[in-house]
Amino acid sequence: MTASIIDGRAFADGLGRKIAGSIPIFEAYAGRRPGLAVVLVGTDPASEVYVRSKGRMARKLGMESFEYVLPETTTQDELLALVARLNADDRIDGILVQLPLPKGLDALAVVTAIDPAKDVDGLHPMSAGMLASGLPGMVSCTPLGCIMLLEATLGSLAGRDAIVVGRSILVGKPMAQLLLARDCTVTIAHSRTRDLPGKVAQAEIVVAAVGAAEMIRGEWIRPGATVIDIGTSRIERDGRKTLVGDVDFAGAVERAGAITPVPGGVGPMTIMTLMHNAVIAAHRRVG
Ligand code: GUN
Repeated sequence: MTASIIDGRAFADGLGRKIAGSIPIFEAYAGRRPGLAVVLVGTDPASEVYVRSKGRMARKLGMESFEYVLPETTTQDELLALVARLNADDRIDGILVQLPLPKGLDALAVVTAIDPAKDVDGLHPMSAGMLASGLPGMVSCTPLGCIMLLEATLGSLAGRDAIVVGRSILVGKPMAQLLLARDCTVTIAHSRTRDLPGKVAQAEIVVAAVGAAEMIRGEWIRPGATVIDIGTSRIERDGRKTLVGDVDFAGAVERAGAITPVPGGVGPMTIMTLMHNAVIAAHRRVG
């Protein structure tokens, strides 16, 4: 069996068209466009690329983009003062502070300072609590994109056995909550899990979010399973730098029913679900 490839880029493009189409309607009603603020502290090259592409996508879809690039030497107080200013700015519906922050800055304190109504990243403890309570809060972008891809591939997820490998606040935990909310039976695996291959082998849905190149081997995958690969690691292969996921794609594609590629799977969805969250936040804010 060779898996069908889940085309995240095509799905994200479709979502982007819907978002772009909704913005003139919002503007006619609210008298302004949805506004997204993205904050970068320091000069991490990967973060610079992400932040630039988020701003570019917001503008492309017709939103207002507010970009803040602060020096590596920014203090906690200066960053908190900026967050307070963005919280108070009515033109801004969504605030994203790009992580990781430089050493010495307390990411949790910064994220917690964001107005939960503008927490388009879904990282505020209030957003996590709303999700766990089944209330309509902001859902972090990567897990939300994964759920959209899973439902587009499988339809209803109810009753399915799912494993999430990874328990981060950004991805693993909200992913597990979203699957649970759709009535999956969810296992959360992590670095201390015993017999990971055996547990992965039982799952109809495998979500890999560990950040370790090709750690989940193809032979672990249950035949016909749906595999969502969130990892992106840059490795050297045959003398060339290559982007790979957490899943051994070449092995898994022979066993899975459907699988996301890296790149071109979850990645394009993450940026589009951020845009989706910004528009949702804008609508909720104007009532
Ligand atoms: N760094 C890598 N991914 C993310 C994300 O989804 N949100 C934020 N704020 N930082 C990130």
